[in-house]
Amino acid sequence: MQEFDKVGVVGLGTMGAGIAEVFARAGFHVTGVEIDGAALQRGRAHVERSLAKAVDKGKLTAEEERTILGRISFSTDRADLADADFAVEAVPERMDLKRDVFADLDRICPPGTILATNTSSLSVTEIAALTGRPDKVVGLHFFNPAPVMKLTEVVATVSTAPATVAVTAEVAKRIGKTPVVAGDRAGFVANALLVPYINDAVSVYERRLASREEIDTAVTKDAGLPMGPLTLADLVGLDVCLAVMDVLWAEFRSPRFVAAPLLRRMVAAGRLGRKTGRGFYVYG
Ligand code: CAA
Repeated sequence: MQEFDKVGVVGLGTMGAGIAEVFARAGFHVTGVEIDGAALQRGRAHVERSLAKAVDKGKLTAEEERTILGRISFSTDRADLADADFAVEAVPERMDLKRDVFADLDRICPPGTILATNTSSLSVTEIAALTGRPDKVVGLHFFNPAPVMKLTEVVATVSTAPATVAVTAEVAKRIGKTPVVAGDRAGFVANALLVPYINDAVSVYERRLASREEIDTAVTKDAGLPMGPLTLADLVGLDVCLAVMDVLWAEFRSPRFVAAPLLRRMVAAGRLGRKTGRGFYVYG
């Protein structure tokens, strides 16, 4: 595999900041780009908090923390990605935003640079088609929390070159993740299985078959999962869950993929989970 160490991360929200941290911890030099100074400051604070927590727990020394932070440059100018060897986009799940980012990445990054998207609900094929290098566009789908979850899906489209898939899977391994190669279908593999399960749990709650705590406790204790489905929905973001249900429905038209009305209403009400302080539970 070609050796490289300069990685661009566009979007430093919960996922992007976690992704930047993961690359920096693995020794890559990262340029993290946000849209404006305030968003950049939030992204930087997210990374700093996460590293500080690791120091508090004795998982990192203060020296390692400084070294890792020193590997990340923060910028509001995408032109700073002109020397990136590998770029990961993690902006919100709107095709208009992806179009804007990928047009810039295609123009700014060297022709050999692989452009990866962390999308969980949009078509990687459509994103690839926005660029002049669809053979070098791939999905690299991280799971929340990105610094902890080992799984990454490497999403290959009909246009993605086999070498692009191979390099991306190798990159995933270099950052300590387990890559699973998946085709570009709604939900890829993991979310096509996971999100309908979360949606079913919302339906159970909506039908008042059990309280939210009972639903979560039942599954957590009895199935040995780390989190109940409603707690997990709050972690993932109810808007993300809804977006995944809607693309599954749009692609397959199966009753299995009809979003629970309550999920849709909670998103309309702005109760998106942890990120807005309120979802199925309230966060202080
Ligand atoms: N960032 C960094 N580290 C974090 C973290 C975060 N946001 N949240 C937890 N951690 C770390 C903790 O610091 C702790 O680290 P140490 O072991 O080094 O001390 C470790 O993770 C365990 O955390 P906790 O002890 O606080 O709590 P826990 O044991 O309950 O684990 C959890 C928390 C890792 C989130 C665990 O509950 C879990 O695995 N939950 C399931 C998460 C999951 O399924 N995610 C996938 C969602 S689907 C998705 O993201 C895809 C999509 O497109 C929708």
